[in-house]
This record gives sequence, structure tokens and C-alpha cells, in this order.
Amino acid sequence: MARNDRFLKACRKEPVDCTPIWMMRQAGRYLPEYREIRSKYSFIEMCKTPELVVEVTLQPIRRFELDAAIIFADILLPLEHMGIDFEFTKDDGPQIKNPVRTMKEVERMRSFDVEEKMDYLLNSIKLVRKELDGKVPLIGFSGAPFTLASYIIEGGGSRNYIHTKTMMYTKPETWHLLMEKLVDMVVKYLNAQIKAGVQAIQIFDSWVGCLSPSDYEEFILPHQKKLIENLDKSVPCIHFAFGASHLLKYVKEAGGDVIGLDWRINIDEAWKILNYEPAVQGNLDPAALYGSKDYIKKRVSDILNRVENRNGHIFNLGHGILPTVPVENAKYLIDLVHELSSR
Ligand code: CP3
Repeated sequence: MARNDRFLKACRKEPVDCTPIWMMRQAGRYLPEYREIRSKYSFIEMCKTPELVVEVTLQPIRRFELDAAIIFADILLPLEHMGIDFEFTKDDGPQIKNPVRTMKEVERMRSFDVEEKMDYLLNSIKLVRKELDGKVPLIGFSGAPFTLASYIIEGGGSRNYIHTKTMMYTKPETWHLLMEKLVDMVVKYLNAQIKAGVQAIQIFDSWVGCLSPSDYEEFILPHQKKLIENLDKSVPCIHFAFGASHLLKYVKEAGGDVIGLDWRINIDEAWKILNYEPAVQGNLDPAALYGSKDYIKKRVSDILNRVENRNGHIFNLGHGILPTVPVENAKYLIDLVHELSSR
């Protein structure tokens, strides 16, 4: 049990003393102490060295009054063990050297034993839990099948998802087999993280917002539903689909104890669409942290006023914190959320 359990209480829609807050990408380049370590190691080396994972996971927890930690890793890490060869380039993000576009290539993708191949991650989780010593809960995570598929098929980030959509629309059997393989992997991957000690999990569907509601319903929903149904139910699941306000009805149907929201929809309107059933997480524009303190306060007050202390709100940014944000504004935000929402 965590000493500070307001994050887990909010996930379960229980009353809290004030609104919990954590920030997506809270361990990262906006922190000088992160950049210091990063100057000595590659990103992948950092992810694969438990001592470094412990250090960078805890950096934001030491500096701020955050209500949860998130394990330092990346959504692409498990793909390596399915036979996907990738690297993180300096400026363009991840690059996949062998994109998967045909049935043969999908068939060649392997399943793997998480405990055996990703012991570095599971050991990191155990070590972080020990170091946290119950201070705050630890979140584990995975990419969602669509978001992982889009990297695998496009070979990197994408603007129009042409290869991904071409596969969906012209070779549906290939698409569905790829999704089945990814669902199978993500279920095992997240359940292994839960077994190793994470106290909540988040599924990042960062790029699914490029789809129409009809395509989501046909090509994503059955897979996403099956994924969430098969997760170990002993910890809450946060389902975050970025840029997907138009898909909220289906995202809810797919499942999740908590639904993550970006900033393109007002939080009260989104929660209403969700019928107030799941808890919600969000929804400050990460760029708000470039504003003045007055501006940040205005935006935070607006979100809190719309929520009206309803049970089941976790404050967060609507996407990852940006690398050039002033650290003092992040601190200001975190303290302000606690202060203004104190019950
Ligand atoms: O939230 C946290 O603090 C935990 C760490 C975390 C990272 N990546 C570390 C990271 C998490 C939760 C992720 C998830 C992730 N990775 C997503 C989903 C979240 C989102 O932003 O939508 C995606 C799409 C990725 C893929 C990825 N990893 C990209 C596109 C990039 C390059 C762009 C960028 O932001 O640098 C990465 C690299 C990455 N992942 C970094 C970090 C700290 C930067 C690495 C560095 O130090 O150079």
C-alpha cells in the first residue's frame, strides 16, 4: 500500500483530500538532472540499466510533490523481442529498419517470454518499488496495439498513416493478424509488469486519433476490448487515446477504469460523454506551462471548476511534458493543483 494513495483512490472514484496529479513524461529532458545522466548514456542504455531506471524514475518524485511515479521505459522496447529492429535517432524519434507490411512479415513476428527477455524492466520495477518504499504508487505502461502497429508499419512517426491505412483497407486479414499478435504481446507484457509490482497501468494510444469513428469501431475496438478484458484486474487501468475526442464513446466501450483526455475537449463535456462511469485523467495543454503563472492558474482553475470536486479526477497534462518547459512552472502547477483542490 502506498502512504500517499490519493492517485489510486481517484482511479477507483473514491473521495480524496485533494486532486492527485502526475505528468506524462515526468522523467525526461526538461529536468537538468535527467540531461546530466543522458549526456553519459544513450536512451536505450538508460532503459536497460535498472540502476539508471531507478534514478530517473525517482528524479521528479524527489523534486516535486507528485502523487504517482511512472516507470522509465518506452513503448517500443518490447518490439525488439518480436523481431522488430529499431533505433532512436537524435532528432526524428524512433526509426524502424525493417517495417512490416505483408502477411509474410506479420507471420514472421515472434511471441516471446517477457520474464526472460525483459528481466531488466521487471527488475527495475521491483527496485523502484523498493526505493519508493510506499511514498507514492508506481505506474507501468504499454503502447496500444494501434500505436505500436503504426510504428511497425510506417517505420517511424507518421503524418498521414498511409501504409497503416492501406493495410487496413486492402489487406484486412493481415491487419487483424498483426493486431492479434500485438494484443497477445501487450496482455502478457502488462500482466508481467503487474506481477512485478506496478500498482496501476496506462495504455498509450498516442496516434489512434488519426482514425474516423467508423474505422475505430471496425479495426480497433474489438482488439482493444479483448486486450483490456484480459488484463489482471487487481490494479486500475488508464486508457489514454490522444487526439481522440471524436472517439470517446468507443474508447469507453473498449474499457479502462480511467480514461485519459487530451486538451482538445473540455473535461466536463468529455466526462458527460463517458456518462461519468470511468474516472478521468487530464486535461491541461502541455504548452500551458510556457504561459505566465497567472495564465497557468487560470487554466488550472478552469479545469478544477468544471470538475467540481467530483470523485475520480486525476490531474495530468493532455500529453507528455515538453522538453523545454521551465522546471519552476512544473512545480508551480503541481503545488497549485493540490492547493486549489484541497477539500
Ligand atoms: O512518462 C514517463 O516519464 C515515462 C517514460 C516514457 C517515455 N516514453 C520515455 C522517453 C513514456 C511513458 C513513453 C511513452 C511513449 N514513447 C509514447 C507514448 C506517449 C506519448 O508521448 O504519446 C510514444 C509515442 C513513444 C515513442 C517515442 N519515444 C518517441 C516518439 C520518442 C522521440 C520523441 C521524444 O519525445 O524524444 C521517444 C523517446 C523517449 N521516450 C524519450 C523519453 C524520455 C526521449 C529520449 C531522450 O532522452 O532522448
